[in-house]
Amino acid sequence: MNSNKRPDSMVRITTLELANAFIDEQVEAVRNQVGNKSVLLALSGGVDSSVVAALLIKAIGKQLVCVHVNHGLMRKGESEQVLEIFKNRLDANLIYIDATDRFLDKLVDVSDPETKRKIIGGEFVRVFEEEARKLEGIAFLAQGTIYPDIIESKGVKAHHNVGGLPDDMKFEGLVEPVKLLYKDEVRVVGKALGLPAEMVDRQPFPGPGLGVRCTGAITRDRLRALRDSDAILREEFDKAGLTNKVWQFFTVVPDFRSTGVRDGKRVFDWPVIIRAVNTVDAMSATVPELEWSVLKKITDRILSEVDGVCRVLYDLSPKAPATIEWE
Ligand code: XMP
Repeated sequence: MNSNKRPDSMVRITTLELANAFIDEQVEAVRNQVGNKSVLLALSGGVDSSVVAALLIKAIGKQLVCVHVNHGLMRKGESEQVLEIFKNRLDANLIYIDATDRFLDKLVDVSDPETKRKIIGGEFVRVFEEEARKLEGIAFLAQGTIYPDIIESKGVKAHHNVGGLPDDMKFEGLVEPVKLLYKDEVRVVGKALGLPAEMVDRQPFPGPGLGVRCTGAITRDRLRALRDSDAILREEFDKAGLTNKVWQFFTVVPDFRSTGVRDGKRVFDWPVIIRAVNTVDAMSATVPELEWSVLKKITDRILSEVDGVCRVLYDLSPKAPATIEWE
């Protein structure tokens, strides 16, 4: 499939049956395209790259080399889930790079949001490139490009998922099996490929990860508070049946502290901010009216289970004027 234009006649993939037909067609197309050569994929664990990985494993097995870079800014358990599903269950040829220290060292004392984004994006490309250079005989680069990426960029957004590789790294071609699909179709294809719902129905997660939710200069203690509080929020939303009702939800740990008392002693600890939004296209967003009992349960758990936190707040601000993320 070389065209970047979705044919008018292409049916919308809404059922597992249609997804299976699409998968069969793509398996054959990929086999024809790459022959017995190897393909490299940056597997972030997001919906698009995960579905591409599962599809390519089905098509070419170990000829696919997946690289998962853990930048230390993933949600709790996310890198572990990628390893469990792809390495253990699907027996993928997967290289896992724990680059946490490398990223966090580069981010020490960096508080400007745009500079943080640039450092995280740039470092990601460097780590991926270093790994790619170590590998021999890789002919193709696979990408989780989807149709909205093509429409938004009019086809010029190259290397969408890896943020751009240097020009001297030449590949024979790109493998982009879901590039004509919309997001909802990618999810159906993922389900047909047997990926678990929590991976396929995952919320959007910004490329810079928790970096934009640990405001100002990132510190390891606040990052830990962020990861732990976020895990509690997800667990309690799940228990309350909110996971599929609220579009996106997460916690934020800002870079200021406030006074509290714990065990009769004065403390000076972080607040945790709960952010939950509903939206259609992320251009504007509203804040759901959550049950007080759910908010209270989350608050109680965060205050008793997460070290260094003495306050929990619920962000009531719609977009606009607030953005969904804090940075
Ligand atoms: P904002 O904060 O702009 O977010 O209201 C809108 C949506 O985009 C996500 N987001 C990002 N996604 N890289 C991404 O891939 C980013 O740098 C980034 N920043 C924000 C955000 O999570 C929300 O869903």
